[in-house]
Amino acid sequence: MAAYEYETHEYDVVVVGAGGSGLRATLGMAEQGLRTACVTKVFPTRSHTVAAQGGIAASLGNMGPDSWQWHMYDTVKGSDWLGDTDAMEYLAREAPKAVYELEHYGVPFSRTEEGKIYQRPFGGHTTEYGEGPPVQRTCAAADRTGHAILHTLYGQSLKNNAEFFIEYFAIDLIMSEDGQCQGVVCWKLDDGTIHIFNAKMVVLATGGYGRAYFSATSAHTCTGDGGGMAARAGLPLQDMEFVQFHPTGIYGSGCLITEGARGEGGYVTNSEGERFMERYAPTYKDLASRDVVSRCMTIEIREGRGVGPNGDHIHLHLNHLPPETLQLRLPGISESARVFAGVDVTKEPIPVIPTVHYNMGGIPTNYWGEVLNPTKDNPDAVAPGLMAVGEAGCASVHGANRLGSNSLIDLVVFGRAAAIRAAQVVDADTPNPVLNQASIDKALDRFDGLRHAKGAVPTAELRLEMQKTMQDDAAVFRTDKTLAEGVKKMEAVAAKQSDLAVSDRSLIWNSDLMETLELTNLMPNALATIVSAEARKESRGAHAHEDYPDRDDKEWRKHSLAWVEGNKTTLDYRPVHLDPLTKAKDGGIDLKKIAPKARVY
Ligand code: FUM
Repeated sequence: MAAYEYETHEYDVVVVGAGGSGLRATLGMAEQGLRTACVTKVFPTRSHTVAAQGGIAASLGNMGPDSWQWHMYDTVKGSDWLGDTDAMEYLAREAPKAVYELEHYGVPFSRTEEGKIYQRPFGGHTTEYGEGPPVQRTCAAADRTGHAILHTLYGQSLKNNAEFFIEYFAIDLIMSEDGQCQGVVCWKLDDGTIHIFNAKMVVLATGGYGRAYFSATSAHTCTGDGGGMAARAGLPLQDMEFVQFHPTGIYGSGCLITEGARGEGGYVTNSEGERFMERYAPTYKDLASRDVVSRCMTIEIREGRGVGPNGDHIHLHLNHLPPETLQLRLPGISESARVFAGVDVTKEPIPVIPTVHYNMGGIPTNYWGEVLNPTKDNPDAVAPGLMAVGEAGCASVHGANRLGSNSLIDLVVFGRAAAIRAAQVVDADTPNPVLNQASIDKALDRFDGLRHAKGAVPTAELRLEMQKTMQDDAAVFRTDKTLAEGVKKMEAVAAKQSDLAVSDRSLIWNSDLMETLELTNLMPNALATIVSAEARKESRGAHAHEDYPDRDDKEWRKHSLAWVEGNKTTLDYRPVHLDPLTKAKDGGIDLKKIAPKARVY
C-alpha cells in the first residue's frame, strides 16, 4: 500500500471544478450558508468557460417576441427528441431568471439602445414553434460572454465566503461500501501534498472531454476528469456517442469562431463561392442547428467543393458586414482570425472546418444535478452524496445535439439547481460521513502506481494514438465499418495504459504525472463514446450513421449507459423522460407541439 501523508478538510459541500457550472454551484451553496469548498486544477478564471464566445440563451424577448415554450420546443427539436422533457422544460423556464440573476451579480452584458440586455440570433433558435423567423434569444457580452460570466461568478463566490483550493488535482472519489460518495482525494500541484476533502455532497463540475479528439475547440484541460472518476467508482456514463462538431473551428488550429458570427449575418461558402446552406436548409440556412451545418460542410468537402489547396475546408464570410459591427459585436473573433488564420475579417473570409466542441453525454443526472446510478428496478435511482453539473453531467437537456448558447444557460441553470437541491438534502448540523479508508487507499495506490510507472509507452504517445483513433473513427459521419474498427483500436489503445511510462517521479509541478492522470480520465470517456456509437444503429442529432441514415424512435429513443472498466465497456439503456413538469392546462407546453417529427430547418 502506498504511504502518503495527507491533510483532511471537512465541508458540507465540495465542488470539483471552477468553470461556469462549478462557480454557479459554489456561489449558490455558499449563499445558502453551506460550508463550501471549490477544488480546481486551474485558476478559476482560466477554466474553459472563459473561452465561450457567442452568448447565453434565454427567452427575455428584448429584441422581439419570445417565450420559454418556444425555447423549450427548439431545445426538444435540437436534441432530436432524445432530451429529457422535464429537464428541457426546467432549462427553458428558469433561463430568464438565471440570466437576470447574472445581470444583478454584475455580468457586463452588451446593451440595446434602450439599455436592455442585447440578444443575437443563434442556430436552431426560432419563433412560433419553428414556424416563424429566427429569434434573437442569445444574450451576449460582445463575443466574450463566458469570460464576463466567469469573472463575475468568481468575484461573487469570494464575496459569499466560498473557499477555493486552486491548482489541486482531483485523483478519485471516496466511496463508501454501499455506494455513497464521501469526498475526494486531491493532489496539490505546487507543493506535492495530498488532501482529502470529506463532504456530505460532492459536485462534479469538471467540464467535457474534447481532448479525447485530435482537433477540438476545447482547452487542453478538458480531459473528462469527472467522467473518469465516476467510471472508476462504478457509475455509468450516458449518451456518450453524441459528440458535437462546431461548424466553424479555424482550419489548422481548431480555435473557435463563434456561431454569433453567423448570428450577426456571416455565411459559409464552398469553392464555387456558393452559399450552399440555402440548398440544405432553405428556411434557416446558416442558422440551422450546428449538427446540420457541420454535416453539410463535410458533404461539400467530400464532394469536392472544399476550398484551399487541398479542398479540405470551407470559407466563413464576415467581410460584407460593417466594420463597426465587427468591432462592437465580434472583436474577439476578429482578433482570433488574425492571430490563428492570418486573416483580416473586414477583407477576407476565414478558413473553417467542423471541429469537436462539446459532449452532449456525460454523467447521468436528474434535473437537480443529482447523479443517477440506474438499477433494473429504478432507472432514476440516485447515487447518494454526488452531483454533476455542466458539460460533465447529462441531465439530459441536450439529448443528441445541443443548440448553440444552450451550454452557458445549462451551466448556470443547473449549477443553481444543484445549490437549491443541496440546501434541501444537506443538513449542515449533522456530522460528516466517516471516511472509507479502503477507498482512500485505493485512490492513493493508483496515484502511486502511475507516478512510478515504468512501462514502454510514453503518455504523450498513447494520448496521440487515442486522439487520432477517435478523430478518424468517431467522426462527423460514422459507418458500421469505421465504428467497429474504432472500437477494436480503442480497446487496444486503452489496454496499453498498463504499460505507461512516466519519467518524472517528483510530486511538485509534475506535468508528466498530471497528464498521465488526465489520460486515464480521457480513456473511459473515449471508450464509452465509441462503444456506445457502434451499438446505436440509427442516425440522431450528432450521431450520423451512414448505414442507418434515419432516426428510429421505436428502437432507439432511449439513453445509452456505458460502464467502463479497464478497456472493457458494458452497455445498457434507460428510458427518455417524456413527461413535462407543467401540464398544458397549467401553462406548460402543449405536448402535441413537441411530438417527434422529421427534423428539418
Ligand atoms: O459559437 C459559440 O459561440 C459557441 C457557443 C456554444 O457552444 O454554446
